[in-house]
Amino acid sequence: MGLLITSKHLDMLKQMAQMENNGKKLMSLLKKRGYIQPAFELYGGIAGLYDYGPLGGRLKSNVNKMWLNHWIALGNIVEIDSPTITPKEVLMASGHIGAFNDFASECKSCNSIFRSDHLLEEIHPNPDSLSQEDLFSEFENNLIKCPTCKSSKWSIPQPLNLMFSTTIGASKNGRTAYMRPETAQGMFLQFPTISRFFRGKLPFGAVQLGKGYRNEISPRQGIIRLREFNMAELEYFIDPKKSTSHNLEIWNDTLLKLIPDGSESKQKELETTIFDAVKNGIVKHETVGWFMIKTYELMIDLGLNPEFLRFRQHEKNEMAHYATDCWDLEIFGSYGWIECVGIAHRGSYDLEAHDKFINTNDLKIWRDFETEKVIEKTVCSPVQSVIGPKFKNYSKAISEKLLKIKNIPESFPFELEVGEETFLIQKEMVEIKDIKTVDRGEWFIPHVVEPAFGIDRIIWHILEHSYNEINKKDDENYTILSLNKKIAPLNFAVYPLYEKDGMKQKADSISQLLREVDGISVIYDGSKSIGRRYARGDEIGIPFAVTVDLQTIEDETITIRYRDSQEQERITVSELLDFATKIV
Ligand code: ATP
Ligand code: GLY
Repeated sequence: MGLLITSKHLDMLKQMAQMENNGKKLMSLLKKRGYIQPAFELYGGIAGLYDYGPLGGRLKSNVNKMWLNHWIALGNIVEIDSPTITPKEVLMASGHIGAFNDFASECKSCNSIFRSDHLLEEIHPNPDSLSQEDLFSEFENNLIKCPTCKSSKWSIPQPLNLMFSTTIGASKNGRTAYMRPETAQGMFLQFPTISRFFRGKLPFGAVQLGKGYRNEISPRQGIIRLREFNMAELEYFIDPKKSTSHNLEIWNDTLLKLIPDGSESKQKELETTIFDAVKNGIVKHETVGWFMIKTYELMIDLGLNPEFLRFRQHEKNEMAHYATDCWDLEIFGSYGWIECVGIAHRGSYDLEAHDKFINTNDLKIWRDFETEKVIEKTVCSPVQSVIGPKFKNYSKAISEKLLKIKNIPESFPFELEVGEETFLIQKEMVEIKDIKTVDRGEWFIPHVVEPAFGIDRIIWHILEHSYNEINKKDDENYTILSLNKKIAPLNFAVYPLYEKDGMKQKADSISQLLREVDGISVIYDGSKSIGRRYARGDEIGIPFAVTVDLQTIEDETITIRYRDSQEQERITVSELLDFATKIV
């Protein structure tokens, strides 16, 4: 049977090709109109650092707000905030000092340095999963050329830690610290407070929005790979022995594209519901599945095109040092498929690591047994009237240690080590007894499922999926940025038809009325022809244009123009205000 290409599939391929073409045009529009631009440009710019301008800043805060509301609405999630400067000890415990590395290859001819896997992207489906030796043999076998000087002589790939280091306090006596590479550690270190807040009842979670810092070896692709970027992470703490009982069937009319085991080969891409994916063991953890569909839901709400979303599972050796399973949400745009969210099962890795380092009980949760356990055992019970006077200050520690002895000694005296001291225990100091104890429950370290979002990458794709060029007349391209009205940086543009005969004053007062609606942002624009102003508004994604003319002054009606349909209708000012309150 031949390959069946449906018209839907053809449309998608066309849109993909279109998007690949539009990337550069979009970037130049975004720079020109104040969405994003390389930072420090007046000083020549620095790779991997970007500014959000007057429109971009507002877009980012609208995306952040929607992200936050999506999770807070679940009821058992709280928002926290923690410092970006992190002392070394925390990142030693978390494993970032030892393992937060990327491999870098140095060209032996011109000494340029590149991230090794990035140079293999054209010849390998998943170069991020390759070991040091495998990376090197791929370089050798494929005669990979240096992008700078075209030589094929490479050093052996070396692991480079991605964290920016700094010093807290005066440099001589200062403490070594790092700019956080992820916000997650803030949630782990606040675990005792968060757990107290929820009275120790799992599941619960915490979110944090803020900057992450990674000294990327080769920052590139605009705001896709930055050295300082905007993260939004959620740590969801669960009891590994209990199901979180999410009803995944309510999403049975939503098909997700999944690529299990990281393989990009076509045969392995499948379309399925999240319910079936969990039931059939493709997604192994129910909570991971639940976060996948909740993440997908949010992406659609933000205005991303569902055709260009897919989930790819990490291969075993591609996973971060803390993860036991990980599914990336990838979004298609002019740079191809890009990871924008990582949904990782971190097991008990982080809390356990901090627990070991600081030796505390605060990172554990109490779990009641379903039925109490009665335990019969023989113990070495201290006789206080002998031990007290004999060992004085040491008697408490010795008594506790005696009660913990598992192999009851058969002969006396015997030696007992307590801390760094050794004590001789005589027969009259203990009584060997059979006792019964009741265990009602146990302390345990919860597991964590973490969806980690890169806000910049999401914003880039929202902009790409919203970018439309239509051919209006005379073959001139007309650009519309169809941003979802809930996140558009400006909701309304108010235009007087002319700035005369009272129309300017009327437009000013209508702008002010709209601004008083909570959450609504408005721009007034009175310069150039009305057609030019509509075009400027469409290009930066203002969903609604309000035109004020002479009739407005007579009867309090305006013309509202809808960006996406380009249709217009005449409504009253009070209907306009009603409409505005409904947008947010
Ligand atoms: P990559 O493989 O692309 O380097 P990663 O697997 O290291 O990404 P994570 O550690 O899972 O990424 O980080 C969580 C999210 O943060 C990513 O899904 C991505 O959206 C975002 N992110 C990571 N690194 C960067 C960066 N340098 N610039 C912008 N966003 C980033
Ligand atoms: N917290 C996920 C990551 O940054 O890797």
